[in-house]
Amino acid sequence: MCGIVGYTGVMETAPILIEGLSRLEYRGYDSAGIAVVSPGNGGPAIEIIKARGRLQALREMTDNGRAVRGTCGIGHTRWATHGEPSVVNAHPHFSKDKKIAVVHNGIIENYKDLKEWLGKKGFEFISETDTEVVAHLLDYYYKGNPLEAICKMLGRVRGSYALGILFQDFPDKIYAVRKDSPLIIGTSDQGNFIASDVPAILKYTKTVCYVDDMDIVELSTDHIRFFNTDQEEIQKEFKTVQWDAKAAEKEGFEHFMLKEIYEQPKAVADTISPRIKDGNVVLDELEMTEEDIKKISRIQMVACGSAYHVCMCGKYILEQMAKIPVDVDLASEFRYRQPILGDNTLVIVISQSGETADSLAALREAKKLGHKVLAIVNVVGSSIAREADSVLYTWAGPEISVATTKAYSTQLAAIYLIALLFGRTREVINQEDYKKYVAELGRLPEKIQRILDEKERIQWLANKFSHAKDVFFIGRGLDYAISMEGSLKLKEISYIHSEAYAAGELKHGTISLIENGVLVIGVATQPELFEKEISNLVEVRSRGASVLGLTLYGNYAMEDIADFTIYVPKTEDYFTTSLAVIPLQLLAYYISVARGLDVDKPRNLAKSVTVE
Ligand code: F6R
Repeated sequence: MCGIVGYTGVMETAPILIEGLSRLEYRGYDSAGIAVVSPGNGGPAIEIIKARGRLQALREMTDNGRAVRGTCGIGHTRWATHGEPSVVNAHPHFSKDKKIAVVHNGIIENYKDLKEWLGKKGFEFISETDTEVVAHLLDYYYKGNPLEAICKMLGRVRGSYALGILFQDFPDKIYAVRKDSPLIIGTSDQGNFIASDVPAILKYTKTVCYVDDMDIVELSTDHIRFFNTDQEEIQKEFKTVQWDAKAAEKEGFEHFMLKEIYEQPKAVADTISPRIKDGNVVLDELEMTEEDIKKISRIQMVACGSAYHVCMCGKYILEQMAKIPVDVDLASEFRYRQPILGDNTLVIVISQSGETADSLAALREAKKLGHKVLAIVNVVGSSIAREADSVLYTWAGPEISVATTKAYSTQLAAIYLIALLFGRTREVINQEDYKKYVAELGRLPEKIQRILDEKERIQWLANKFSHAKDVFFIGRGLDYAISMEGSLKLKEISYIHSEAYAAGELKHGTISLIENGVLVIGVATQPELFEKEISNLVEVRSRGASVLGLTLYGNYAMEDIADFTIYVPKTEDYFTTSLAVIPLQLLAYYISVARGLDVDKPRNLAKSVTVE
């Protein structure tokens, strides 16, 4: 999604903006631009420079920002929603007299009505974007007081937005406001910042403030002031983020995705170990008493994409370990299907970014219906984290690659912790099993590392299958849930068509697609379902498919049927997902590399999807 960065201070702004935008590249974009208040002979004037395509074009046009003078400015990477990717549609957008410049992340839903209304008042539109209405509305309402103009503009626009605004009359100031789109403020001795996400400014500061919906912020070199929409000054708290700047660097890896795959042993350990005390799972952050946990009659899990796949695993794990019925919904469906949730239903929302528009809306829907929401979130202070009743943070650190890996693994770890705590509190896991599971949790990071140490074989298999046209991932039970994630990983970064199927479902239609040359990846880690899965693999093999098996060491019967087999270490049945997903991530990664694709920034995708 679009990325915003802004800086006003004692340093030249353009190089900082371009550096900040490069840190937001992972969000996905198709054009970029900056607006800088330049000190001209005739007084300050706003200069806008924009380019289509990668940030490199903007770098070349501005000599990495060095060719643009000025210490106050805003920048933007655009992921097109309204209007094709082009220079004219790229942000920032000017008001008609070029005295106001705006960058925007989000969607102004009523932009057509506003455009018509502004058109009648003589405003001309040069772009196809919804954002241009904001620039013209500000122009219309501006009578010398930026705050007043912003408040009046806010009264007219509907939708989601994080906005960065420059007024030529106030050459050292940036104004910012948000509703339902992420925005943070950073502060340092050298000046102040706005940004969509922490990595954009991590090089300069770790002291940040998460802007709440409808807070209006005024930043200059030496002050930051917050206002509400009644133009009254309000107080906000700044926090120190724990992420260090190196965490957002590639550190010698060819891609962020590979680096993040390798960070998984640590990320999983960081998520689990502080929550195991004296052999027990302790989740202090849950705002729930033992009584509350015992009263839960149902769990509703909601998320998007890979986080949804964690929910699919969560269903099997929570139902079997904690004996609580679990429903799983895509957030984009849940929010509009008028869900009927029974009394004492706990809603669990999972999100890496904590800003995904559909997941946030699902959380709000659940709260509106009177249910408690437990969020599993990676980004500290994000919207979902702030609005949930309880938050369990995954300590994965910043995830830059569009395709999630370490966030997925830490979300799974969080599910294990919840399942163990709920199961024990509800007395459905006996003490012996509980101890065994807790001990095994502690061994997962080392087992993940063992798989990573054997990556060469997966690299070899990836080269072998890099020309595949259709790939089916099949599995039963938890292996079906893993298959969903394996399939998504492959298709999103390799652009190979792939689907995940419950192995037993294949013959109800989809098996007609199996023919010579189709690759079927059979995930079989669950002992009770192993033989059935083998039968399903025999069915596809006899119809011409190549079979790649993925199972646990010891299950050598797989070799009787599979062309190739990948083994992962043995673990408790509930935790196999954490191990089986690693080769699937590596396979997708190396296939993408073999095909020469942009692994970290796959086409059309955005990291944090803040529009619906
Ligand atoms: C896939 C991927 C996406 C996200 C989804 C939800 O690799 O990263 O499918 O899982 O967009 O994002 P969050 O977790 O930020 O809500």
